[in-house]
Amino acid sequence: MFWCVLAIPLALLINDIRIELATPTLGLGADPEDAIVDHLGIWSIRLLWFTLFISSIARLTRQPILIQFRRMAGLWTFAMVCLHVTSYVLLLARVDLMVILDDFVERPYIIAGLSALSSLIPLAITSTRGWRRRLRQNWNRLHRLVYVAAIAAWIHLFWLERATFEESAIYGAILILLFIERIVHTMRTRKRKQTAKAVT
Ligand code: HEM
Repeated sequence: MFWCVLAIPLALLINDIRIELATPTLGLGADPEDAIVDHLGIWSIRLLWFTLFISSIARLTRQPILIQFRRMAGLWTFAMVCLHVTSYVLLLARVDLMVILDDFVERPYIIAGLSALSSLIPLAITSTRGWRRRLRQNWNRLHRLVYVAAIAAWIHLFWLERATFEESAIYGAILILLFIERIVHTMRTRKRKQTAKAVT
């Protein structure tokens, strides 16, 4: 069921592409390539924020059982990012290495996108139970890379904003709230540990 919900953004895009192929411009508008890259991009950042949100809501509602959904949301995020980057390479850069290299120079926001992608790759690879067992406490340390990915993804969006900074302001504000929740949680845990140590 949760898997189906996470698949909705992709199903919507496939439907738009279907309409576009049948009736050009009615499915994806005047610039279908850009529309596909943007749709996959915006849902990549939304799924990443949602993945971070799952941990916060599990703590705030004291429902640790919710954590079990985090891995699936994280893997869907990674899948969406891979589709986003693939659509950029195929539809915008037309698999032309010179165009991609030019883009890296002329559109620095792509470097931020690449940093976010690079941070997500080890998280996706080590998302299995086997890796979690193998890495033990280093697994939690490694998975802090998700914060690097989130900040880089936000910089990617902020840097490419064409008109208003409204969208990056909204995603930025949500990310700050997610970070505040984590800082408060860490401080509380530390305080509880110190008190427990003082008592024993
Ligand atoms: C190598 C990695 C990446 C490349 C080459 C890349 C490329 C692009 C390009 C070219 C656009 C603008 C398309 C246009 O002109 O309309 C874009 C937009 C976007 N990308 Fe990426 N991206 C990358 C990674 C990421 C990652 C990791 C995320 C999020 C987790 C992301 C989220 C977004 C968002 C939110 C937009 C804006 C969509 C909109 O305005 O509606 N991108 N990306």
